[in-house]
Amino acid sequence: MQNYIQENQDRFVAELMDWLRIPSISTDKNFKNDVLRAAEFVAEKLRLAGADKVEICPTAGNPIVYAEKMIDPKLPTVLYYGHYDVQPADPLELWTSPPFEPQIKNETIYARGASDDKGQVYMHIKAFEMMVKHQKVACNMKFMIEGEEEIGSEHLTPFVKENKEKLKSDVILISDTNMLASDCPSITVGLRGLAYVEVEVTGTNRDLHSGLYGGAVVNPINALAAMIAKLKDDKNRITVPNFYDKVLEVSPAERLAMSKAPFDENIYKNDISAPELSGEIGFSALEHVSIRPTLDVNGIWGGYTGEGAKTVIAAKAYAKISMRLVPNQEPNEIANLFKKYFESIAPKSVNVQVHFHHGGQPYVTDTQSVAYQAAEKAVERTFGKKPIPMRGGGSIPIVAMFKQELQRDSILMGFGLDSDAIHSPNEHFGIFNFLKGIETIPYFYQYLAEMS
Ligand code: BES
Ligand code: MN
Ligand code: MN
Repeated sequence: MQNYIQENQDRFVAELMDWLRIPSISTDKNFKNDVLRAAEFVAEKLRLAGADKVEICPTAGNPIVYAEKMIDPKLPTVLYYGHYDVQPADPLELWTSPPFEPQIKNETIYARGASDDKGQVYMHIKAFEMMVKHQKVACNMKFMIEGEEEIGSEHLTPFVKENKEKLKSDVILISDTNMLASDCPSITVGLRGLAYVEVEVTGTNRDLHSGLYGGAVVNPINALAAMIAKLKDDKNRITVPNFYDKVLEVSPAERLAMSKAPFDENIYKNDISAPELSGEIGFSALEHVSIRPTLDVNGIWGGYTGEGAKTVIAAKAYAKISMRLVPNQEPNEIANLFKKYFESIAPKSVNVQVHFHHGGQPYVTDTQSVAYQAAEKAVERTFGKKPIPMRGGGSIPIVAMFKQELQRDSILMGFGLDSDAIHSPNEHFGIFNFLKGIETIPYFYQYLAEMS
């Protein structure tokens, strides 16, 4: 199969680039048609690769592409999950080439979605094509590729609830996470949960002249800034009461193992040109982004931000705030704790409203399972090194939902890198990683069938 990859790699990359040209931005209604085109594109590729059944399942939101190749009821069944929607590309001016005109520079594909997640989905489609061509389909294979991951997978939950029989499998396989480095493979064994809120602070019934009213009324932007400043203490601990109550502390042994991972804080820091790293005192950077919860303002606005100066006291100020959660924090509970505290620290001179956005539960993989061991063996086979189990800092809320609704574990065998700049300008995916993924995936199926 190695030859097949070599002979076809240019076509694989060219096809992926065609898919990347479709701006399937799920958060923006203006791209609805492109979202549908991206779904059709991947459905067609699954058909061409050899799926027996391919469906574009409509939902109240974006469609879910489903495909399968069932070969033998005695063999294990794997449900692959990925997403064809992408994040918005802005700020556009920071891209060195247009986000939806993919370009190859230094053996790397630059485009929005190159790594998250179209490039990683496409590895599975090409691995599947190759397995079919070589009659090496080792398991029953199901594919579910959704178009709302980046906006909270709202319609995936009802779809899963209504299609339990269709989605029946032994394990779920996902490539939507990262490795430590191309020469230092790792497998993600944990994801953080998420609670996301939006706050609205109102001072007066209209924007005011900052001379006629300034000094006598509260400025909601100043008030919001002061409230945000109160959300962490001088040790960088989140001050929301009871926020840490349910945090499952990681054992000293596991922390010791983590400290041995070849994660270089300096490389991490320099890659993002950060003058200094920061975080909760008592924990390392790797711990900050994996086993500890966070609270971060993701956006803040209000008042006049146009060109020049306008003397005004805004009526309202807003912020979007994300909290990354770790086991066993509950998104709804945390959002409620936040709301209660945020309201309690508001000065009497403003009104505060807290709205909840989508959230998600954290997840931890069982590394003793046959499926995890098959993934470990597959990565070791193609990378030549045993992968290190690592907890990831990001969130894929549907992983906990799969466990709850389908009672199945997910294997997070991702081939991206932290430096791929997902969600940022100049997102990219190394062709080496793309091809390594295609090479590794068939071994996962082979080992899973052998070990089951
Ligand atoms: N693929 C990412 C999540 C990810 C990336 C996990 C790298 C671990 C390593 C996913 O597409 C994503 O962006 N998830 C969102 C959550 C969602 C609810 C918007 C996130 O983590 O912000
Ligand atoms: Mn993703
Ligand atoms: Mn993403």
